[in-house]
Amino acid sequence: MNIFINHKIIKVEDEYIVELYLQRQYDETSMEFLSNKQEKVKDFKKEIKNYIEYKIPNLRIKTINIMLGSLLIASIPFSSINVEASTHSNPIPTEATNNYAVKSGDSLFKIAKKFGITVKHLKDFNHLKTNLIYPNQIIYIPTKEIIKIINSLPDNIIHIGHQGNEIKNIQRALNKIGYHLAVDGIYGPNTKSAMLRFQNQYKNLADDGIYGPNTKNYLEQELLNNNIKSNLSDILVLVNKNNSISSDYIPKNLVIPNVSFPFKEYNPKKLMRKDAALALERLFVQGKRENIDLYAVSGYRSYDRQNTIFNSNVNKHGLETANQFSAKPGQSEHQTGLAMDITSRSVNFSLTQNFGKTKEGKWIKKNAHKFGFIIRYPQGKESITGYQYEPWHLRYVGNETAKDITAKNITLEEYLGRK
Ligand code: DAL
Ligand code: ZN
Repeated sequence: MNIFINHKIIKVEDEYIVELYLQRQYDETSMEFLSNKQEKVKDFKKEIKNYIEYKIPNLRIKTINIMLGSLLIASIPFSSINVEASTHSNPIPTEATNNYAVKSGDSLFKIAKKFGITVKHLKDFNHLKTNLIYPNQIIYIPTKEIIKIINSLPDNIIHIGHQGNEIKNIQRALNKIGYHLAVDGIYGPNTKSAMLRFQNQYKNLADDGIYGPNTKNYLEQELLNNNIKSNLSDILVLVNKNNSISSDYIPKNLVIPNVSFPFKEYNPKKLMRKDAALALERLFVQGKRENIDLYAVSGYRSYDRQNTIFNSNVNKHGLETANQFSAKPGQSEHQTGLAMDITSRSVNFSLTQNFGKTKEGKWIKKNAHKFGFIIRYPQGKESITGYQYEPWHLRYVGNETAKDITAKNITLEEYLGRK
């Protein structure tokens, strides 16, 4: 029996983070692993390798996160596992269902036309970088049904339950383009929307195929949460001068995003909620590609920390002025783990309105929404947000909402129709 009950795959660029969920009774093994006893480390890594080879072979994995419930207990580069652990093979058969052998005179365009799909689909599913194909090359032909399903999937985390031929076909098709199906249902930040879309479109698949016990719990929880207006874990939670959070609220799943900070040491302000952290990583990676050098400065703040900051600002500037740029404790988005203040070398790593005039600040204004972020306190909206213009304060709201808010040039308050 494997020591892991489940896994979750998170796509980051073209690599993956795999979260492996420990069986409760293996807490001890993991603790020994963490205590670094050499022989245990090796056994543990072997378990990881076996699990991965069996369940999700051929995935370009960057990092393995060992999870106990929602708790991240270890993060291990996958390369270290591959080198140290011995192999064991019990691979899941992965033969494709719809293969086509290229004939002389064929082109991708001709093949796509023949099957009523696009060249892009063929390239995506077959990992083809160019249009070059050769006679007898085996090309996988995704069915229209599968393409439709894939188009309906959220773009970061996918998990689908098992069984049923249809599911197996979907599983193979998804595997080919780097998505994966696990045995216990769909889950992840976008699960609800993915589930609902699946249910609407593929009613026949929903009951026994896609549903798993975890999915059901997850959905029930989500539905429950939606009925509670002030659901703090909702990525659209509104926190402002009229909507405070309680002093004991600490978001779940806080992690340090893998981005540049102007300081090296650990500090809780490096933390963000995991969904937001992954999005920030993607934003910074794209920035780097375009030669935009960004730094994260301040993310999660506890109620107490905000209290200290706010009091110090009040001492320096007086209450009224301070509250134009600094939130009272319980009223700061930073307590949700969904906000990050960012800056650049060009303004000496400071949080200043001049950041908005720099190359970096302009790039952020243009691109943040593509990664699910909004500039939360824009210029000209001070009377709505209650705060002065802060070109550095990014708030994660998810891709769709960020695009909508940015396109309409509105604030989160206006988007939600609330004060
Ligand atoms: N600077 C923002 C308003 C905060 O303190 O949360
Ligand atoms: Zn901020």
